[in-house]
Amino acid sequence: MKSYTFNWRRLWSAILLLSACVAAQAATPGRERLSLDRGWLFHLGDIVQPPIKGHGESYGNAKAGNAAGAAGTEYDDSDWRHLDLPHDWAVEGPFDPNANVSQGYRPRGIGWYRRYLRVEAADRGRHFELQFDAIATHATVWVNGNVVNRNWSGYNSSYIDITPYLRYGDAMNTIAIRADAEAMEGWWYEGAGMYRHAWLVKRDPVHIVTDGVHATPRAGKGTQWTIPVEVTLNNSGKQASGVTVEVSLFDPAGKQVARQSATARVTVLGTNTVQVPLAVANPALWSLEKTNLYRVTTRVLQDGKALDEVSLNTGFRTIRFDAAEGFFLNGVHVKLQGVCIHQDHAGVGVAVPDSVWEYRLRRLKELGVNAIRFSHNAPAAEVLDLVDRMGFVVMDENRNFNPSPDYMQQLEWMVKRDRHHPGVILWSVFNEEPEQATEVGYEMVRRMSATVKALDDTRPVTAAMNGGFLTALNVSHAVDVVGSNYQVPDYDRYHKANPNKPFTSSEDTSAYMTRGEFKTVREKNLIASYDDDAAEWGNTHRDAWEAIATRPYVAGGFVWTGFDYRGEPTPNEWPSVSSVFGIMDLNGFPKNAYYIHQVQWIKDRPLIHIAPHWNWSGSEGKDVRVMVMANVERVQLLLNGRLLGEQQVDPYRMNSFNVAYAPGKLEAIGYNGGKEVARTSVETTGAAVALELVPDRAQLAGDGRDAMPITVRALDAQGRAVPLADAQVTFAVTGGGRSIGHGNGDPNSHEDEKGATRRLFNGLAQLIVQTNYDGAEAISVTATAPGLAPARISIPVKATPAQPFVAAAEAPLTFVRSWRIAPDSAERPDPNQQLASFDMNTWGWGSPPMIAPAAAKYRLYRASFTPRKNLADGSGMIRFAGVRGKAEVWLNGQLIGKKDSYALAAFELPLPAEAGVGKREINVIVEAEPGQASGIEGYVSITPRLLAK
Ligand code: GAL
Repeated sequence: MKSYTFNWRRLWSAILLLSACVAAQAATPGRERLSLDRGWLFHLGDIVQPPIKGHGESYGNAKAGNAAGAAGTEYDDSDWRHLDLPHDWAVEGPFDPNANVSQGYRPRGIGWYRRYLRVEAADRGRHFELQFDAIATHATVWVNGNVVNRNWSGYNSSYIDITPYLRYGDAMNTIAIRADAEAMEGWWYEGAGMYRHAWLVKRDPVHIVTDGVHATPRAGKGTQWTIPVEVTLNNSGKQASGVTVEVSLFDPAGKQVARQSATARVTVLGTNTVQVPLAVANPALWSLEKTNLYRVTTRVLQDGKALDEVSLNTGFRTIRFDAAEGFFLNGVHVKLQGVCIHQDHAGVGVAVPDSVWEYRLRRLKELGVNAIRFSHNAPAAEVLDLVDRMGFVVMDENRNFNPSPDYMQQLEWMVKRDRHHPGVILWSVFNEEPEQATEVGYEMVRRMSATVKALDDTRPVTAAMNGGFLTALNVSHAVDVVGSNYQVPDYDRYHKANPNKPFTSSEDTSAYMTRGEFKTVREKNLIASYDDDAAEWGNTHRDAWEAIATRPYVAGGFVWTGFDYRGEPTPNEWPSVSSVFGIMDLNGFPKNAYYIHQVQWIKDRPLIHIAPHWNWSGSEGKDVRVMVMANVERVQLLLNGRLLGEQQVDPYRMNSFNVAYAPGKLEAIGYNGGKEVARTSVETTGAAVALELVPDRAQLAGDGRDAMPITVRALDAQGRAVPLADAQVTFAVTGGGRSIGHGNGDPNSHEDEKGATRRLFNGLAQLIVQTNYDGAEAISVTATAPGLAPARISIPVKATPAQPFVAAAEAPLTFVRSWRIAPDSAERPDPNQQLASFDMNTWGWGSPPMIAPAAAKYRLYRASFTPRKNLADGSGMIRFAGVRGKAEVWLNGQLIGKKDSYALAAFELPLPAEAGVGKREINVIVEAEPGQASGIEGYVSITPRLLAK
């Protein structure tokens, strides 16, 4: 007998396989929504199959389940990279001056993902849905070699019913995804790949479809409200079902305040939408300050047993856009102090952890933002949940302007998914379309608006027009609220001509600023932060807000943009790789625009800021332009205790002083009614002597998802942050987490965002750490830089169960699935007989179980397979899970083994080593016990020897 050497890799595969079984067995009836973020395999680049020429191959290629290459089930992906989602491969790559400026000079390309999925036999009959929250950009999905979905937008979800294709037990399922990120939908950085979450949802055959609960509150008389709940059910089972749908409403304290039920019948493979209206008296209203959220729980019951249950949050609030006075929330006037944002962040690209989104929204809240336009696409679902909880109103925007069926579906998906969010106040059907001024544009929007209205008539439809709203027939005639991108000189003209049409700025400003720079150096692509520079079509931050704030009929504004984003480095190009429009940089570090807007937008407490920093060594005696930003009545400026001047605050222009530079302390004091109410200062610092790490939060959850930004800066001997420090910092992260990237806000930096080092830019960098799954150990972060004392912090990690997930599954097996079956014969057939490649019918087709009736004596089965590279060298086995009858096994014309008993039994034999990796033909002759049925009953697989039993 041959002895086998011990192989850790195989043992590990076996353990993984076992743990996958254990995880899958934990399945319970009812609904399970399991994270499918873990356990993906990734290949960068396309995998192109050679053209098909033979007739047999052509025939096979056209058949269900037969996708070729990486799309198919048996592709050898053993050398692919293992990773977890969310994943953006574009941010991992280097910058390339020949790549697209709009995409931030990041090559995007094509990538493939594969994942194995084990489904227990006990789950047979349940409904299985894959959910991909977004994949950039064109995605094709195969399950077990069947193409199951194509999604031509990188901003919307795919919900894929995979129930019919599933294999149970040891026969693994294969998910394959080709993500084509050559395709573009934007003119900004869009990332690449599976950058949002993935889920597997298991449900009873009778279940609520995804996004199938429509629960949007409507105000009635006085304090009476209704939620005309509609629940859409589907039945993938084999019999029609009578069920009860029960909807309960829970107030913010968790107390049930309404309940209603209705009965429904769902036909076999049919859907049914059931009305279950709720009445609610005097609910606590949702507002920007008090985000009272109610929970709507919908259950599907049969004979007292819950078949399915889903919960969603909603809120009671009224909205109104008034043509003369702007926007009202719950009858109270609110000027929209908004920002547009894209979805990438430093270090992580578009694969932004949910907790980093919380950080980003918290930064906006601190800035005084009350409205967000997710430009120019719907955000991740988790982001809208945060919006509801943190108190923002939102313009939810559709990506593609096109009312044809495929694209209309994208719009419908957005409205169905998002209509329960109290934060959503406007549906935007497009951004800046050349057809906006024409009849064609009008006709297109009319249809898209009608589609939105059919799904949700509680919110106005808008479109972000950069002109064209003064023509005789244009898009503005088909929307409820006219959105204007820029066009400030036309605001009044439009309003005068259309005094009854509500109007908002949907986009404004587009001003340039490089964080921490106070001198414009054109040849270095650096732009000073005094708010002097704006795009030709835009305005400075101050001018844009003044135009909006001083016009009551303008509901508000949306600054382009809240944060810098990759791509669109206007007015620069290479080596600039990211935009400089942001009020904050790519990390969420404030630029001077932050302070300008903060004092304009926050009114409930006195604020005062000074720009620039006070490190101007070499400029002693020269004038430095100082900007004081305050929301008080008067400000004084003092240098080293000497009063330099006092001014009345200009709330739109801010206050400027020219100060002859002398090192020391520059101080601003704010007064209301002659009384000091606010004070701030900037000081000349010494040279940097030490690094400092400042975590954003006190602890992290060890659930493998929680992440936080850590601010990295340099301090002088007195512990003051040095504003111009540019040290090259090296990070080491150990313990219960890891670095997932870093940034510094320098739009001209080409540093690797995932590497071990990052230079401080104007005194700052940001490192993002994320916990490991099952992390309970603190995360230690060390930052070192030449000549500076290192910084060390330890971030406590709280043991936190991961959200329910599908364990990673390895597929060490190759299944031999697609067999040809020769006609039964009384004589032993020649195992190597020829079958013409054009002969589709003399021999049958099958995959196990393939049983011959009792009358047959001999049967010949033929298939071909390509073993995985690591099994082709003699370390693999061919395993027959069950053969009834005696058998001979022939491989590439050679007899390699026999089964000598008639009884149904598993048997296995070594797969001979063969030079090179290639297709092998297997022929199996099965000889029946006289008068008995015979054949290959169980699956046939190629396994590592350790697993073969
Ligand atoms: C607008 C556009 C934005 C961005 C901006 C830059 O026209 O809607 O996506 O490109 O200009 O100023």
